[in-house]
Amino acid sequence: MTCNRRGPLRGAIEVPGDKSISHRAILFGALATGETRVTGLLDAEDVHATRRAVARLGATVSQEGREVVVTPAETLREPDDVIDCGNSGTSLRLLAGVLAGLPGLSVLTGDASLRRRPVRRVIEPLRRMGAELIARDGDRVPPLVIRGKPLTGVKHELQVASAQVKSAILLAGLRASGETSVREPERSRDHTERMLRGMGVPVRVDGLTVSVTPSRPTGTRVDVPGDISSAAFFLCAAAGLPGSEVTVRNMGVNPTRTGLLDVLRAMGAEVTVAGEREVAGEPRADVTVRASRLEATEIRGEIIPRLIDELPVLMVLATQARGRTVIRDARELRVKESDRLAAMGETLAAAGARLELFDDGCAIEGPARLGEVSVTTRLDHRIAMSMAVAQLFAGEPVHLDDVSCIATSFPSFFPLLDALCPRAT
Ligand code: S3P
Repeated sequence: MTCNRRGPLRGAIEVPGDKSISHRAILFGALATGETRVTGLLDAEDVHATRRAVARLGATVSQEGREVVVTPAETLREPDDVIDCGNSGTSLRLLAGVLAGLPGLSVLTGDASLRRRPVRRVIEPLRRMGAELIARDGDRVPPLVIRGKPLTGVKHELQVASAQVKSAILLAGLRASGETSVREPERSRDHTERMLRGMGVPVRVDGLTVSVTPSRPTGTRVDVPGDISSAAFFLCAAAGLPGSEVTVRNMGVNPTRTGLLDVLRAMGAEVTVAGEREVAGEPRADVTVRASRLEATEIRGEIIPRLIDELPVLMVLATQARGRTVIRDARELRVKESDRLAAMGETLAAAGARLELFDDGCAIEGPARLGEVSVTTRLDHRIAMSMAVAQLFAGEPVHLDDVSCIATSFPSFFPLLDALCPRAT
């Protein structure tokens, strides 16, 4: 696809439901007693993977008007075939935590991108709890084979902040004897803690440590707010394109996810957050970003897990800011749907950006004039959407080799972009 639009972006939109919360609503609903009714669920391929997986385990997921209803099985059953998680790391890692305590054999796999992503980080703690797990290439990457066993609670210390790994261990902990606790070096997104609490599970949070004891969640109602990680593409475009003003209504503003807003403010964008309210345990608000002259900033340390998925589009925005933007402590970007540091670094450089790559980040000199470029999207939705934003700044065509990956998280990305920024005819 060739993108060739001209800004500014103007208007008010809603973006589809938060991907992290959507996965959890389906999966936790499948573990619960009684049904879970979900509104605002993300209808995208990653969440379809979780829906198919819980169906294999015996739960039923159906649509009733605006609601998606998850009806759990009395007890989950051993899957009768391999579970294909597609492109979705969250599906694979969270399911590993559930399957570790389920009697029987399970095999989790995914597409070529997911089969390159690390799984030792879930294998090690789940083995310590008593499950048997093996994976390809010396336990490095999927397929992941799990033989569920009776589990014992452990205290686990994560080397890297990761909500997926934290959640896998906590989910295993719901079936383990005794207490299970996870300590992170920095706080990652806390949707699991919030939703489990909303389902009646006593989750204890003490600083950076989260603990659970054996418990079965109770079905509940979940209302999923708009995904800040999807909104980020439009908010960053609005911040950097003169004359823009974009409002995203009903967007999730859970403080473990709003690093993006802090960085936009630090760069000088005008950000307003209105009508903040909490529904089903998750805060949301109407967020407006207006364009301003942007200055470079530093993004490092504890903020990284609060904006990890927004870093590719922030790298694009940094090309438009005056000065040297530095991103550090973001080595995790190399093990996402693609090596996002390499992918964005190479692609932005080809488009004319001045940047230096580090093992754990980059430095970008701005403002730079971006130009026409051909992009290999590498099965990575966020690379594709970030470069569609880069095109707006370039004002010249950007050619994306494959945009089908966008359907994993944000199938309505281009229609919403059209609504905010009509295509030149
Ligand atoms: C997610 C956690 C993050 C994030 C991913 C979704 C989640 O990954 O990058 O897109 O839903 O828990 P890590 O837990 O690997 O940091």
